[in-house]
Amino acid sequence: MEDLATPLRCLSDFHNAEVFTDDNVESVTSVEQKKVEDSVQQVFRSYQENHRILEPTLQRQQHYSYLKRGLRYLSDAYECLDASRPWLCYWILHSLELLDETVPASIASDVCKFLARCQSPTGGFAGGPGQHAHLAPTYAAVNALCIIGTEEAYDVIDRPKLLDFLYSVKQPDGSFVMHVGGEVDVRSAYCAASVASLTNIITTTLFEGTPNWIIRCQNWEGGIGGVPGLEAHGGYTFCGMAAMVILQKEHMLDLKSLLHWVTSRQMRFEGGFQGRCNKLVDGCYSFWQAGLLPLLHRALFKEGDTTLSMTSWMFEQQALQEYILLCCQNPAGGLLDKPGKSRDFYHTCYCLSGLSIAQHFGGSEMHELILGNEENRLAPTHPVYNICPEKVAQAVQHFHQMSVTGKRETPSNTPNLS
Ligand code: FPP
Ligand code: ZN
Repeated sequence: MEDLATPLRCLSDFHNAEVFTDDNVESVTSVEQKKVEDSVQQVFRSYQENHRILEPTLQRQQHYSYLKRGLRYLSDAYECLDASRPWLCYWILHSLELLDETVPASIASDVCKFLARCQSPTGGFAGGPGQHAHLAPTYAAVNALCIIGTEEAYDVIDRPKLLDFLYSVKQPDGSFVMHVGGEVDVRSAYCAASVASLTNIITTTLFEGTPNWIIRCQNWEGGIGGVPGLEAHGGYTFCGMAAMVILQKEHMLDLKSLLHWVTSRQMRFEGGFQGRCNKLVDGCYSFWQAGLLPLLHRALFKEGDTTLSMTSWMFEQQALQEYILLCCQNPAGGLLDKPGKSRDFYHTCYCLSGLSIAQHFGGSEMHELILGNEENRLAPTHPVYNICPEKVAQAVQHFHQMSVTGKRETPSNTPNLS
């Protein structure tokens, strides 16, 4: 078996050509970039010194223990996320499903009861019990409930009220504010489109003007900024593209310039992605950026692009796996931004989600690319919703025949994204 394993490529030789050059113009940014490359090089070197072949291990058991504990106990460090508690449920539950770990029924039921307490009387979910509804925790809560996927979980969602909430944050120009009286940015369009499509409450007017507003956020770089005129960023680009896919309007974006922008965000030396031009690599962009490639692949395929590969995404899938497995794991469990940073549930979720994207191509086992042992294999994730594809299909099926008032009726034109 050992002969078939990936031989350890000589990272120092191979990578010398890839290191950052400041063209003799030193700046705060160039110094930071060099420091990160040094720390990544140290990790690669020490791996090489101790291993003959490139077979990094996913610390599955440690990640599982870290996540399982987080469902019941959080340290003081999480106090600042008191308005993001549904996010913690989602990050942990999704990480566990990627690791193929089931959540005991009693814990799943407690999560449902907790999220029910986060639901606002005005519709939508808040960051915690008694807080105001907000689109971000609404997205996280609906995703978490769909991952649990029981009748109890689905029944938590008050769909007519959720639709009222979505209308209350809709703006006349097609955009959405994150909460009543709050800020507009492209995250809100994605959160709204995601929850509305999963729960089958899309109406003919809810997203009127939204695609036109989103295309205004794609800028000269090719990526998408938070609002029209802002710098392109991976987080917003994912939100804009995924919302357009849900609304079946992805062809309205300049897909080729988006592709050029996102592929240029994979770091030549580190293998991971940066969020925006001239910034540092960060493990969480393994999903926000690499997750764009399946969406782009599908969109370009729909447009009849005949140059697309039928076996791999258009990014270096192995290099991303090397970065995540070698540089982003805390040996005691949990994943992180870059060497030297602390673990947290956000980075655990998005590093694992990105690792899953890098391992699987188009749902076919034939085209899996698993760096390291087969034990490293994660479950696939749905690149639009970032929950497992079967949970998307199950939720769509569950809510399919329900009208907003709960009566059964002829299904509307819900896109088939499963
Ligand atoms: C910059 O942070 C980050 C942002 C401006 C927003 C990022 C947005 C997301 C991650 C998407 C959120 C998605 C949903 C569904 C709510 P920074 O300046 O600290 O990081 P950087 O240096 O890497 O750009
Ligand atoms: Zn990050």
